[in-house]
Amino acid sequence: MQQKTTSRLSKLIKSKKAKVGIVGMGYVGSALAEAVKSGGFSILGFDIDSEKVAKINSLGKKNFQATENIKRLEECDVIAICVPTPVDEYNRPNFSILTKAASGIAANLKKGQLVILESSVAPQTTRNLLYPILASGSQLKGSDFFLAFSPERVDPGNGKFNVTNTPKVVSGIDEASLKLATLFYSSFVEKVYPVSSLEAAEMTKVLENVFRLVNISLINEINQFTKSIGIDIWEVIGAASTKPFGFLAHYPGPGAGGDCIPVLPYHLLDAAAKTKVNLKVVEAAAAVNEAQPQKVAQKAVEVINGKFVKNGHNPNVLLVGVSYKEETADIRQSPALKIWKELEKSGMNVSYHDPYVQNINGYTSKKLTSKTVREHDLIIITTAHKKIPYRTLVRSKKPLIDTKNTLSKYRQPHIIRL
Ligand SMILES: NC(=O)c1ccc[n+]([C@@H]2O[C@H](COP(=O)([O-])OP(=O)(O)OC[C@H]3O[C@@H](n4cnc5c(N)ncnc54)[C@H](O)[C@@H]3O)[C@@H](O)[C@H]2O)c1
Repeated sequence: MQQKTTSRLSKLIKSKKAKVGIVGMGYVGSALAEAVKSGGFSILGFDIDSEKVAKINSLGKKNFQATENIKRLEECDVIAICVPTPVDEYNRPNFSILTKAASGIAANLKKGQLVILESSVAPQTTRNLLYPILASGSQLKGSDFFLAFSPERVDPGNGKFNVTNTPKVVSGIDEASLKLATLFYSSFVEKVYPVSSLEAAEMTKVLENVFRLVNISLINEINQFTKSIGIDIWEVIGAASTKPFGFLAHYPGPGAGGDCIPVLPYHLLDAAAKTKVNLKVVEAAAAVNEAQPQKVAQKAVEVINGKFVKNGHNPNVLLVGVSYKEETADIRQSPALKIWKELEKSGMNVSYHDPYVQNINGYTSKKLTSKTVREHDLIIITTAHKKIPYRTLVRSKKPLIDTKNTLSKYRQPHIIRL
């Protein structure tokens, strides 16, 4: 039975006749859809957001449609899950979205379908959370469907690397699932890297994200010390980077944001707590990252109260860049928004400019003109988008906290680095 269905799906994948369902047409689902399309497959995107569904269908593409009707997943041969896996207010993994999506898939699961989880999760989530929902909710035997995990590594705003030219780590719950998932991704990804277990693939993604968080927090912490004795951390990083091996430069900033780097370490901490392993470095990195926006806000208070700004009114602060990352509009877990909250707590009036984010919470992005700069007491560069007219900021001589060292070539007293 297993052998027979494997060869059926393999033939469908090889001939590009397999229909691919993508559950969750957000950032990851859309990037995956582009890549799958380039492989010549037809796609059915499923999302609970009717606007997203309507937008895709308005394109009128025969081989790329979207639906809110989960029953239609039975038309698909391969189903990729790309729904969010956030943490709650206590930084505990919140699997309610994944569980809901999985139950919907289970209710419509057909023999011989391949389900692939692409959402970021800690080891054992695919096996212990997703598999039981699919198996019990579908009335199918485990061997009647295939299950794989392949983490999405897409880097928003990266003009060079996308889904097709970033190596894809693939795993399966059994040999057949691994074989089919490898075959599927090999149809549109240049390099596929199979690993021996679901857990190894899940841990790969976790390790990549934790590695980033630890290094970002490390450099932000080291910067506190170097600053205290008058060493320029940027000069030190430049010098350390001349070492041709064993050093990877990370830079100070307002903290890591987005739905992956600051979030996945908490998934790991939760998983490690269950096996009673204490991950002190990861815990510390997460804590340093949580505190970083507050450090920037403290700096703003120092500047406002210092020689640069005359007191007497609630200071006006302009945040330049509010998305969590350069060249994207994504504001999830953005340090800029945390800084914003802290500034307001200190009695400051905050407004912002971001060429990618037109509105947030009733505020509209201000045009960055000399007049806008004049109307503010302090500028804080929080996200260094290329499109920002930096010369306007430099010319104004307004106190400016440059959290990204974007204006490194200007050595002027009004430009203050972290
Ligand atoms: N954004 C990134 O850069 C990135 C990179 C790698 C991995 N990831 C991971 O990928 C996953 C998805 O992230 P994202 O950034 O694409 O999220 P997103 O919020 O952009 O998109 C998620 C989509 O899922 C939809 N959705 C929610 N519940 C649903 C349900 N029950 N059924 C169907 N659709 C549903 C939402 O409407 C939304 O369109 C997360 O686990 C994230 O950690 C994200």
